[in-house]
Amino acid sequence: MGPEVIRESEKVLRAVADMDPAVDLAFDHYDWGTENYLAKGEMMPEDALDILRGYDALLFGAVGSPAVKDHVTLRHLLLKIRFGFDLYVNLRPVKLLDGVETPLRNAKQADIDMVFVREGTEGEYAGVGDRIYTGTPREVALQTAVFSRIGTERVIRWAFDLAEREGRSVTSVSKGNALSYSAVLWDEIFEEIALEFPNVSTQRLLVDAAAMFMVMEPERFGVVVASNLFADILTDLGAAIMGGMGLAPSAGLNPEGTYPSMFEPIHGSAPEIAGKGEANPIGSIWSSAQMLDYLGHPEWGAEILRSINEVLRAGAVRTPDLGGVASTEEMGDAITTALALPKMAAQL
Ligand code: IPM
Ligand code: MN
Repeated sequence: MGPEVIRESEKVLRAVADMDPAVDLAFDHYDWGTENYLAKGEMMPEDALDILRGYDALLFGAVGSPAVKDHVTLRHLLLKIRFGFDLYVNLRPVKLLDGVETPLRNAKQADIDMVFVREGTEGEYAGVGDRIYTGTPREVALQTAVFSRIGTERVIRWAFDLAEREGRSVTSVSKGNALSYSAVLWDEIFEEIALEFPNVSTQRLLVDAAAMFMVMEPERFGVVVASNLFADILTDLGAAIMGGMGLAPSAGLNPEGTYPSMFEPIHGSAPEIAGKGEANPIGSIWSSAQMLDYLGHPEWGAEILRSINEVLRAGAVRTPDLGGVASTEEMGDAITTALALPKMAAQL
């Protein structure tokens, strides 16, 4: 369903670009993915990263199909881009939007408002390992997590910078009681960086406790920084408490701008509904709003989010995941229509 949600994102972005000459957007499309793999034996061309390098930003839909093993699709496409473009900050807001129901019985809307800073280039996803004695009773699999000082410092520092800018706290999530090498290094570095930000309040949580508190006391969290896998897992929990996977966005940032950053909903390709026009495009459209923030148009990023909230609050147009009957396209149309284009234009 990648193409379906991307189409709606593009619709919203084009509406913005048509209104504001300062937002100068041109789109190229690449249909890389599992169909390409089945037809040509490769997820994307060998020089894919060279092709993509020239862009200012990338919008990514989704990848995966029951016809190809997931670790192949991901390692040869999504993770190749995240690692190859050093997208070390993966920014994932977990925020309860207007009119959306959370499964947390006692949570108020303001309680669910955190942002995950997920490490994106190493950790448990480093892809280091081996399998030996395959197919025999002695079979062994090794999967080594990689935590470098540079990699850990830069993502934690980025999280602190964000928290300081926004007047929020920083929560570090790790597992130092059991992972006595990697997580202890992470915890030590967190304490070191915290000293550089005396005005930012902090808490350190073990990942299991963090999962519990996200459900019991979501208001504890502001900026949350965690390793690649821990934040992957917790942001699915985050998507659940914000009302569903279809809503959750992400921004994979290369903060130095050496490479293009990549914006993608956190959901997968949902083969059970792909092609049916039922997918919720909000995760993708919100990611596009993050893209405009990143490209220097935060007023438009905020306007798109406001428009999403307006449509959800009104409640008439909802995709099936939110209990409605609207199609992907109708949802995208509603969000486009709700953009306060004339008002924004008046401010230009
Ligand atoms: C996500 C996804 C990916 C991840 C998968 C598809 C490899 O779950 O963006 O959260 O684990 O990073
Ligand atoms: Mn995930």
